This record gives sequence, structure tokens and C-alpha cells, in this order.
Amino acid sequence: MEVRVDLRSDTVTMPSPEMRRAIYEAEVGDDVYGDDPSVNELEAKSAAMLGKEAGLFVTSGTQGNLVSMLAHCGRGDEVVVGDRSHIFTNEAGGASVLGALFLYPIKTDRFGFLEPDEIRAATNPTDYHKPPTRLLCIENTHNQASGQPLTVEQTEAMADAAREGGMSVHIDGARIFNAAVSLGVDVAELSAPADSVTFCLSKGLACPVGSIVVGSEEFIDQARRYRKMLGAGMRQVGVIAAAGIYSLDNMIDRLAEDHDNAKKLAEGLAEIDGISVDPDNIHSNIVYFNIPAGSGKSIAANLKERGILVNAGDPVMRMVTHYGISSEDIDYTLVALQEHFRAAVAA
Ligand SMILES: Cc1ncc(COP(=O)(O)O)c(C=O)c1O
Repeated sequence: MEVRVDLRSDTVTMPSPEMRRAIYEAEVGDDVYGDDPSVNELEAKSAAMLGKEAGLFVTSGTQGNLVSMLAHCGRGDEVVVGDRSHIFTNEAGGASVLGALFLYPIKTDRFGFLEPDEIRAATNPTDYHKPPTRLLCIENTHNQASGQPLTVEQTEAMADAAREGGMSVHIDGARIFNAAVSLGVDVAELSAPADSVTFCLSKGLACPVGSIVVGSEEFIDQARRYRKMLGAGMRQVGVIAAAGIYSLDNMIDRLAEDHDNAKKLAEGLAEIDGISVDPDNIHSNIVYFNIPAGSGKSIAANLKERGILVNAGDPVMRMVTHYGISSEDIDYTLVALQEHFRAAVAA
């Protein structure tokens, strides 16, 4: 059956006709020489929006986080991360493999928050039995905490605890624009407590490729060197950067629609016998919900037969709303799930 609803991730979004036109008309140059006007504009615009001095266009969120960790730290340094952060759980241990950095995981609460006292306890500036802690990484919104946005106050509390111990602060803000829209605050305010931020163009902002790192001029200079080292000095990449500029101008405010659809999805899921989810906990575009253990594969297969794609998590499943998902798609998905669970109970 043809795919009708793809809820696997917000990375599956397709460029709109207007975005394709921006790509077609992009002015380009060799970016490694600093000659690509579209990349330069995107980097400057991103830095200005997040209230930092400079920006760097990178290939992915993973690469943005990696060059940031490499630029903040030296070999043998320690990075404090949440135990359910994307950096710790889903970036192939790149910081350790490629940077000889230790990732020190501390508990992430169910809202994606890291307790300041846990950050303080993880800090080790002097004991030479241990690697020196150099960096705290925060994730906003927090993917595995159902896309919870962290507030300015929460971010400040974590950053203050890190700075007491001499650490710098990086935000993995793959979806920081979702956080800003959800909280109704300026993204620069959410970024202010951090030295550097990565955000993704290729997720809710619906670009085909790319992420941005922002920070001080000096930090970005270092990050640029690491990007080159990782083989990601790109050339006439304005063709992709143009999509990013289009997104920053046109795709941010509409994220509220994705949040409304996620809320509607969670409310509908909560009505289904066999599924448990707390709709009050859904504030952006990611919905995690519990299903009976062992049923993930059959749910995913059943939905697929109806043209709905999901990842077969078990006993926790995830659905993500985005530019390609309408309110009608949510209705269609909920009906499919209701029928699946009704049939499962009857069987
Ligand atoms: C919170 C978070 N950070 C970083 C990334 C990595 O982004 P990419 O897939 O572009 O490497 C993701 C991807 O889903 C993510 O959810």
C-alpha cells in the first residue's frame, strides 16, 4: 500500500515547492574558500537569531554536536550528558571514538531536565584520578522525554551549576525552535545560557539536509577546523543552504500546527484501551506511548498495511508530527489504531 502517513520522524519531511524554488535560484560559490553567499547568509542569520557571534553550516545534528564537543574539549576531557540524551544514546559514541572524550551520563528526569546537584556532583576540575569535566550538554527539546521543551529558567539553572565547576555549556537544540514556539519565547533567550547551540534544519524545519552550530567567533573557528577534519568542508553548498534560509523565514511559526497535531494524537491515543500516554505531557511534536509488551511489531505491521509508517518500538512506541502530517492524518491513524486494538482484544 502507498504510504499515506509517515510518523517515524520529523526527518522524513519533503521540501515544499517554494523551498525547491529557493534551492533552484540559490547563489553559490566555494564554501571552503568562504565564497558561498547563501551559506554565509544562512550562518549569519542563524547566529543573529540565536544571539551568538557566528554560525557554521554542518551536515547533520550529530556532526554539529560532535564538532562542538571537539571544539570545547581536549583529548581526555569529560563531557557531562543526560543518560537519555541523543548524544549519549544515539551518536555512535563519536565523541569518544574521534575525540578521546569521556561521556559521563547523569540522570535525565522525565521532563528532560538534569538536576543541578547531579551536575555539581559530576564535576571534577581537580582530582587527577579522574578526567577533567569541561562541558555540559543539554538537550532542548528533549527527544526521549516526549519532546519536552526546557524553559529559560531550567536552562539557566543547569548552566549555572555547570559554570560553578568551570564547565562550558552546549545545547543540542536539534528542535530548539519547537521549544521556542511551544514556550512562546525568543530562541535567543533559550540559547543565552549556553556557549554553543546546534539546531537542525532537516527536522521540523523541513529542509532536505543540514544543521547549524552557533557560538563565539573563536569557537566557530575551531568548530570549522573540526568540520574540515571530518571531511565535511563542502563546496557549492548554497543549493542546500538556500533551503535553510527559506526555512528560517517561513517554517518556524507553523511548528505550532505540529504541536497541535501531536496533542490531538496523544489525546486520541489515551482513549484507546491498551495504550497509555499522558497527553498533558505533550508540548511539542513527539509522542511516546506505552503499548502491551510484545505487540510493537504487529502494530507497526498492521499500520503499514494501511499506509501508516511508525517505528516498531516495544513496549514504548514513538510517533512524530511534522510538516507532512495533517489533522486528517491524525484522525486516520487513530481510527487504524482503534481498530487494531479492538481486533486484538477480540482475538
Ligand atoms: C535531540 C537530537 N539531537 C541530535 C540528533 C541528530 O541529528 P541528525 O540525525 O541530523 O544527525 C537528533 C536526531 O534525531 C535528535 O533527535
